[in-house]
Amino acid sequence: MAIRRPLLALVLACLLTTGLLAGPVHAESGAGRHTVGYDRYSLTIDGKRIFLWSGEFHYWRLPGPALWRDVLEKMKAAGFNAVSIYFDWGYHSPRQGVYDFTGVRDVDRLLDIADQVGLYVIARPGPYINAETDSGGFPGWLTTLKGKARSTDPAYLAAANEWLGRIDRILARHQVTDGRGPVLLYQVENELYNVKQSEEESRAYLSALEKKIRSDGITVPFTGANDARFTSGTGAADLEGYTVYPQSFNCAEPGKWKPVPDDYGQYRAGLPDTPVNFAEFQGGAFDQWGGAGHENCRTLTGPDFERVFEEANIAAGATMQNFYMTYGGTNWGWLATDFDYTSYDYGAAIDEARRLTPKYTEQKFLGYLVQSVAPLRTTDPLTTAPPDNAAVRMDARVDPNTGTRFYVVRHADSTSTADDRTHLALDLGAVGRYPSVPSAPGTDLTLAGRDSKLLVAAYRFGGQELVYSTSELMTQGTFAQPSGTGEQDIAVLYGRHGQDGETVLRYASQPKVTVLSGSVRASWDAGRHDLRLDYEHDGLARVLVHGGTRDLLLLIGDDQAAGSFWRVDTSTGPILARGPYLVRGGSVSGHSGEVALTGDTDQAGPLEIFAPQGARSVRWNGRPVRVTPTSSGSLSGELAGPRPVSLPALTNWRYRYETPEAQPGFDDSAWRAADHTTTDNPYWDGKAPVLYPDDYGFHHGDTWYRGHFTATGGQTGITLSATVTDHGAYAVWLNGHYLGSGGDGSKHFDFPASALRPGADNVVSVLAENMGHDQDRAADDSYREPRGLTGAELTGSAATLKWRIQGDQGGEKPADPVRGPYNNGGLYGERAGWYLPGRQDAGWPTVSLPHAEPTPGVGWYRTTFRLNVPKGQDVPVGLRIDDDAARHYRALVFVNGWQVGRYINDVGPQHVFQVPAGILRTDGENTIAIAAWGLDGSGGLGDVSLVREGDYAGPVSDSSRRKESPR
Ligand code: GAL
Repeated sequence: MAIRRPLLALVLACLLTTGLLAGPVHAESGAGRHTVGYDRYSLTIDGKRIFLWSGEFHYWRLPGPALWRDVLEKMKAAGFNAVSIYFDWGYHSPRQGVYDFTGVRDVDRLLDIADQVGLYVIARPGPYINAETDSGGFPGWLTTLKGKARSTDPAYLAAANEWLGRIDRILARHQVTDGRGPVLLYQVENELYNVKQSEEESRAYLSALEKKIRSDGITVPFTGANDARFTSGTGAADLEGYTVYPQSFNCAEPGKWKPVPDDYGQYRAGLPDTPVNFAEFQGGAFDQWGGAGHENCRTLTGPDFERVFEEANIAAGATMQNFYMTYGGTNWGWLATDFDYTSYDYGAAIDEARRLTPKYTEQKFLGYLVQSVAPLRTTDPLTTAPPDNAAVRMDARVDPNTGTRFYVVRHADSTSTADDRTHLALDLGAVGRYPSVPSAPGTDLTLAGRDSKLLVAAYRFGGQELVYSTSELMTQGTFAQPSGTGEQDIAVLYGRHGQDGETVLRYASQPKVTVLSGSVRASWDAGRHDLRLDYEHDGLARVLVHGGTRDLLLLIGDDQAAGSFWRVDTSTGPILARGPYLVRGGSVSGHSGEVALTGDTDQAGPLEIFAPQGARSVRWNGRPVRVTPTSSGSLSGELAGPRPVSLPALTNWRYRYETPEAQPGFDDSAWRAADHTTTDNPYWDGKAPVLYPDDYGFHHGDTWYRGHFTATGGQTGITLSATVTDHGAYAVWLNGHYLGSGGDGSKHFDFPASALRPGADNVVSVLAENMGHDQDRAADDSYREPRGLTGAELTGSAATLKWRIQGDQGGEKPADPVRGPYNNGGLYGERAGWYLPGRQDAGWPTVSLPHAEPTPGVGWYRTTFRLNVPKGQDVPVGLRIDDDAARHYRALVFVNGWQVGRYINDVGPQHVFQVPAGILRTDGENTIAIAAWGLDGSGGLGDVSLVREGDYAGPVSDSSRRKESPR
């Protein structure tokens, strides 16, 4: 096992330099092994320290492998060096012993892509993952397994080991430790604290999992997300961590903040020997049926939240942070747990349509900082004098090796929305004392409401010595000089528009300062040998300082100007590029002096490049760009934007009402008899027959029941009990007569006398839609809580019903293995393939939308449309449903056979459903099929339209055309 224990690692780390490491070391199969270690400061790889800056991404929430690369490249471009991934057991396993790792489930490919993109992987295969997904990631078949989950129960452990054996086999092939891939850490289980089982049992369970995982060949360190509970003893992880959601999930009040806790020191106290590790730190928030919508979640956890809280984490000494979620994605099919709807956008930095939001830019600021400032990896707390304004608080840290200081300045009450001004007293050790910073007369350090600043001082980089700056450092590096003969250092600094900034650098003798653009005043302090620059942040100022061991170009931007910079690290050094929507990657050919960049534009506009060597020419996505040299030593040119794309209107709808199961003559003889008289379900209330769909192998989506009885004439009604969960529903018919609908609990339905057929077979038909299984957050098997009908009693007679049940076609052997176990439920049209592309609607009447269907039950609307997105353009497309919320219906939305949306017209909040490229044919015909279920006379379907979510010229659509066209 290639893991160094903390003490040894500490000794080693002190001997080793703190090198920069931007991503995994890509090695050929079998080549070079790497050692993953850690001490109390940070993780190390082959002795080099890293600041682990990770984003959470779930491949199973983006069913288009070409888009995995897109999202991972976007993360890498923002300075992330790792991606944390839950692997969802249920997504791969429709029945016990059967696993699918192909197509949209090809995790081998996912790990290859992460490696190629240059991201480490934190693998989190559970077995339990929570994640607001159905059963918290447990497969449907586990619901009927005897044996308590998340414990040492032998039946459960055997099942869990089956999954681990399969997934570990893949993960083991991609480990950093044997030089073959990006998997750096492995999280065992998920939040196994605060649960309804003894700590002893949890520890024994963790220990059993760990043994199994090690025996599967996993050699990277184990991490835990258990609030630092299991740091030693049985079941302990190598690196424990915290999961922290400071704003919780109340997206309905996005302006209401909870403060940064005062006792942030607790995080270090809980993990005295290992890095302060936020295994999950709030990167957004999930929303619920009827909720406020993800844009509100994005406001709740916006750039201000990111800055204040992520910098507070750094102030607490964290060198491992993973943001949950960085791309949330889609609960397509029936992937959501019972309270969650289709979108899992999460208000994350990258939205569900894969667009970069202002939160992304904020992540980029901090991501670039933590990657480029090595002393951040080894810091201790530092006591400082408080700021001269009591409304402002300052926390400080120092790297004992270099003396570099980090000051995190925020409001004492972090929820304050006031603008405050202050001055800081900085004691920079050997570098000197600065009693009032900023020191230029008449200037302040301004702290706007809900803002935070991470200031760097006593920092040597390249050939420079930064004394301090009240601007924040975005990144720094060494680049070619304008003349092409030597090198210059470049640092990008930034601050809020209109606020004062002051940067002080030290030189042996007075340097020559040339202000290339902007308004910057320079003054020289001959006593201290300090060059002071003071300015207001306004657009982009450029200052060239000549006189140190190397020239320095300072690029000082306001947030907007600095946010337009991209940094790409190449084997020959960094590239800085400014202008385009996204720069994904690049390379420099020393031989030809050509810089080749890949990226996206959302409009035509400028491109400016600072390159590591005398660059002469530039290519953008393979095409030459005409560039001219600038006085800053950069090359400048123009990039084309995307061509406009318009989407077609959706017309030619065809409609067919189905619901034959409600009719007495329907042949249900092939359905399963629901006749179990007992069940292993721990939540069973003793009623027989057991009607839970799970017990008959139907785990997801709608379920039909048909209960037969011979009427004596005395039957006056039926009382049904159900657990369909909030916003779930069921509908009831007697011999084809609609009796009404219900929800959770018991409800009585009268039989109209005319509907009963005395002496003959009578049929009660029930269509039930439950919203999904609970998770198992408290480890109390709540994921097994029954769903569907839980009881049925006729009134007016003791006659019993003989039930038959039908859910998704094939049940645990899904009829559609490509789309898999979560795509379909048991509606007639789903079983008959009406959701698939093809000619099955040829004879259906045409209708126009909006359309009314007065008969309760299910009807299907189908149409096709063609897209012809220009090659080389990425146009995210959504499908929108609009209607009057007074109409009571729900709908399942299929595009090319993939269920991309669950819509409830009178609940919401989701009206736009993403259709990822790969599922969507961007250069051909697409089929929409919508099953709409009216619960009273107000059914039908509202307006349906396509929404263009963006238009980008870039490499994504090409790879999705090339490789991804599932079915
Ligand atoms: C965490 C959990 C995640 C997810 C998150 C909320 O506590 O580990 O799986 O449920 O909460 O989105």
